[in-house]
Amino acid sequence: MTSAVSSGESITLKIDDKDISCRSGETILAVARENNIDIPTLCFMEGLSVWGGCRLCLVEVAGSPKLQAACATVCTEGMNVVTASPRLKEYRKMIVEMLFAERNHVCSVCVSNGHCELQDMAVKLEIDHVRFPYRYPHLQVDNSHDRARMDHNRCILCTRCVRVCAEIEGAHTKDVKGRGVLAAIIHDLDQPWGESETCTSCGKCVNVCPTGALTHRGTAVGEMQKKTDFLPYLTLMRRTES
Ligand code: FES
Repeated sequence: MTSAVSSGESITLKIDDKDISCRSGETILAVARENNIDIPTLCFMEGLSVWGGCRLCLVEVAGSPKLQAACATVCTEGMNVVTASPRLKEYRKMIVEMLFAERNHVCSVCVSNGHCELQDMAVKLEIDHVRFPYRYPHLQVDNSHDRARMDHNRCILCTRCVRVCAEIEGAHTKDVKGRGVLAAIIHDLDQPWGESETCTSCGKCVNVCPTGALTHRGTAVGEMQKKTDFLPYLTLMRRTES
């Protein structure tokens, strides 16, 4: 559907039967959150570019045969959006179950146990078992950095670490190699993290990681708590300066 409305103009739409007005150009996720409508997310993080990879934020848009990612879909005039339905809940559960089945998320021995967004999402979606066969891949734990640790077994490839490193720190040490289940976060030209010449050891990647994949060294089970409040602050300060 094309819209005659130019970016920034006021438009109206319905989200979960609620009449809402917003600025054209805003995403469904942003508008929903402004109106206290909860849409689950994992890869999205305020202050970073949109990745649209986890698909937790899928919503139904009337007239569209496909589900749309709320974080990456811009609102249009007259749009009718459903953010919660049995179908959406089933898809979201399936996505989270597949994340658990793909790697080795053993919460009971994870340093992020109790402070993990993947674990919280499973609780929120009332997941009490995984219906897919676990793959149990043998993945590396990179212990080469003197301040942090990367456990690929717990990575969900949300790329928050890649984006914060490139977009906020400006180092672009991290990136993604490979595709599908073989995809992995790498440092520089796929070398041990501790040997990276571009990493500034700022720790931003550790703090935006939603799981126990990136953690500080020396933390024991359940001890790792992430601090993400720096991100909105830095984003706001940069906006103010420019
Ligand atoms: Fe929208 Fe991940 S939050 S795709």
